Amino acid sequence: MAKAGDTGRTIPVVLLCLGALLCGNLILYLYVETLYKSSGPLEYLDDEPVCPRAHFSLKATRNCTPWLSCEAVRREVRPLRLTGQGAVKQVFLSEWKGNKVALSRLSSEEFLDDFLHGLDMLKSLQSKYVVTLIGLCMEDHTIVTEYHPLGSLANINVVFSFEKYKNLNTWHNRFRLAMEYVFIINFLHNSPAGTRVMCDSSDLNKTLSQYLLTNDLHLVANDLDALPLVDKNANDGVKCGHRELFGNFVAPEQLWPYGQDVQFTDKRMPSYDEKTDIWKIPDVTDFLLGQVEGSDVVRFHLFDTHKSCKQQDPTARPSSRTVLEAYKSAYVTLIKGNMAHAARDML
Ligand SMILES: Nc1ncnc2c1ncn2[C@@H]1O[C@H](COP(=O)(O)OP(=O)(O)O)[C@@H](O)[C@H]1O
Ligand SMILES: [Mg+2]
Repeated sequence: MAKAGDTGRTIPVVLLCLGALLCGNLILYLYVETLYKSSGPLEYLDDEPVCPRAHFSLKATRNCTPWLSCEAVRREVRPLRLTGQGAVKQVFLSEWKGNKVALSRLSSEEFLDDFLHGLDMLKSLQSKYVVTLIGLCMEDHTIVTEYHPLGSLANINVVFSFEKYKNLNTWHNRFRLAMEYVFIINFLHNSPAGTRVMCDSSDLNKTLSQYLLTNDLHLVANDLDALPLVDKNANDGVKCGHRELFGNFVAPEQLWPYGQDVQFTDKRMPSYDEKTDIWKIPDVTDFLLGQVEGSDVVRFHLFDTHKSCKQQDPTARPSSRTVLEAYKSAYVTLIKGNMAHAARDML
């Protein structure tokens, strides 16, 4: 039988444990709150340029080096093997002074304009949102960029099946990647080079293949070969290519509006704007969330935002900034909910 003295000692101990638990939770709550308010880690990448213009730094070195010239690219960059191939470029895993780099070569003269446009954008948009440019040689049509061994975002499910990344296959990380995707879209829509539309995105796989996964599972935009400018002042829209587009992945305003009986012509095709990227966000996010515990709860929280992204009328769709804010708020709500759940379980 428990003695009265034992009970007297047990109560303060229980109270102490409860107090410690509550304090722990309070600290965690405050931490999440600061994450949100400071827009620190949630702004996964800050805007601060790492190096001055026309310079780069690699994670291994940290100091800023001028972009490699033609001569340096020819002399110092050694291609090892073909690692990727799109319509415009062949990409070779290469070596430069002991570093792994990617050497991209124009695959056909037919795409020279796209290649040059991509290079121009790569130079203008250097930031933490975009793959690091290391060197270029206009004469040889080659570009050297930082190499990311995990490849494009299209590999995400394969990457999560690797032993090293298995534990990271959670709704948190998947949602964070979707959020980073929206960060990049928002960066392109408000970029130093104006409002840019990610046009190389006529289907899901193509869209995913334009972004690279870093070793620490962040996202950078890589292929900037089709980023036309929306000139709001001149009321000038864009067209993604000169050919007819089909399917549900592209926005409705990207489809030929005059019916099957009328022959498609680029000239008669109406232009559109950056809201085509907003239309595609729900499909990209849906793919990124995958089927892990908790991903359906995220889907539920994003339901209304995604519904508005899928408005037929592009002007009724939210801006990338609004989508981003909705994502951040859903993320914080879910993290807080998870913590409250964990605290209840502990009690
Ligand atoms: N820096 C890089 N590191 C690793 N893989 C890359 C890199 N750059 C490109 N790749 C791979 O090559 C593919 C094609 O590159 P991309 O620049 O999109 O060429 P294209 O303009 O022809 O579409 C990418 O989807 C990716 O798989
Ligand atoms: Mg590509």
